[in-house]
Amino acid sequence: MLEVVEADLDDAGHAAAVVTVLDSYASDPIGGGEPLAADVRRRLVPELRTHPTALVLLALDGGEAVGLAVCFYGFSTFAARPLLNVHDLAVVPARRGQGIGRALLQAAEARARARGCCKLTLEVQDSNQRARLLYERFGFADFVLAGSATRFLTKPLEDGGTPPFSMRVATLADVPVLEALIAASARGLGRADYSEAQIEAALGTAWGVDSELIRDGTYFVVEAGGEPVACGGWSARHTLFGGDRQPGRESRLLDPAREAARVRAFFVRPDWARRGLGRALLARCESEAAARGFRAAELMATLPGERLYAAGGYVARERVRHPLAGGLEIEFVAMRKELQR
Ligand SMILES: CC(C)(COP(=O)(O)OP(=O)(O)OC[C@H]1O[C@@H](n2cnc3c(N)ncnc32)[C@H](O)[C@@H]1OP(=O)(O)O)[C@@H](O)C(=O)NCCC(=O)NCCS
Repeated sequence: MLEVVEADLDDAGHAAAVVTVLDSYASDPIGGGEPLAADVRRRLVPELRTHPTALVLLALDGGEAVGLAVCFYGFSTFAARPLLNVHDLAVVPARRGQGIGRALLQAAEARARARGCCKLTLEVQDSNQRARLLYERFGFADFVLAGSATRFLTKPLEDGGTPPFSMRVATLADVPVLEALIAASARGLGRADYSEAQIEAALGTAWGVDSELIRDGTYFVVEAGGEPVACGGWSARHTLFGGDRQPGRESRLLDPAREAARVRAFFVRPDWARRGLGRALLARCESEAAARGFRAAELMATLPGERLYAAGGYVARERVRHPLAGGLEIEFVAMRKELQR
């Protein structure tokens, strides 16, 4: 029996159904003929789950997902009332022409009415005859204002814009995930500057989580779609770089009047590189260090890191050949920046 339900995005079955049905729509020539990118498949449900106005409806037949409507509440200023935009309406190819699209629209309309919406809106391609017929029969018409039909315009923001991310203080429970993130970052983004042997030797010692920063509350995690995608922090202690297993650590607190705060262990997941996460972490670290009275910040940069820190106003002071296990060495750059007060 066909039923339309509000998708429970915390339910793994519903979440998978949303991705599968939307993917079948995207793969259809009318949806562009291209399956969803792997990155979009991964982020779709976590992003929808945190979107404040999303309404996701699933058409289920005997528990099997056969259709989907993804809607967003908006607002009509001229009516000073909410509206509901039907952003995607999709029925799996084998089940088209059986009233499932109409059932999804009816469910969307019922929810819109219950929320006091003044109208439903949607956009449809001129060429999508089948969908246009359904919409006309359902009561949709061109939007006409002052006697003129309106057009649907869009301006793509480069690669689709940076998806939203948020930053929080790391906790000790994050350590295993952050160690994996650091390894993925170093392996993916360190390759252009270092050999595989150098990267593997540096992981776990020179590069890794310093749990002292976490205990101090000065290490941050950047999350997108509920997943950690970057980490980095600062420290008011002497240790300049390195994870828990790096020799020569020094926990002594620095004197903000005479010594420079440390900027520590920035790592961005490769698929999130060059989207401003490093810059955002740096801004947070510098503002917290300045608020604690520090007038300068110092760090030991990797060669990939040097590009970020140079863009952020850090000046190279010394190139260092740091010894690693197995008789290897790795080039780092000691850098410093005077902080604005
Ligand atoms: C270094 C690292 C943290 C940078 O993070 P990121 O989020 O990609 O950096 P951002 O997007 O914030 O970059 C800010 C600016 O830094 C500069 N920059 C960063 N990466 C760069 C690169 N690969 N090439 C040239 N400039 C770069 C640019 O000026 C950039 O601004 P733009 O993109 O508008 O041109 C990231 O490459 C990384 O995780 N590398 C591997 C781990 C590592 O070496 N960490 C450093 C430890 S000290």
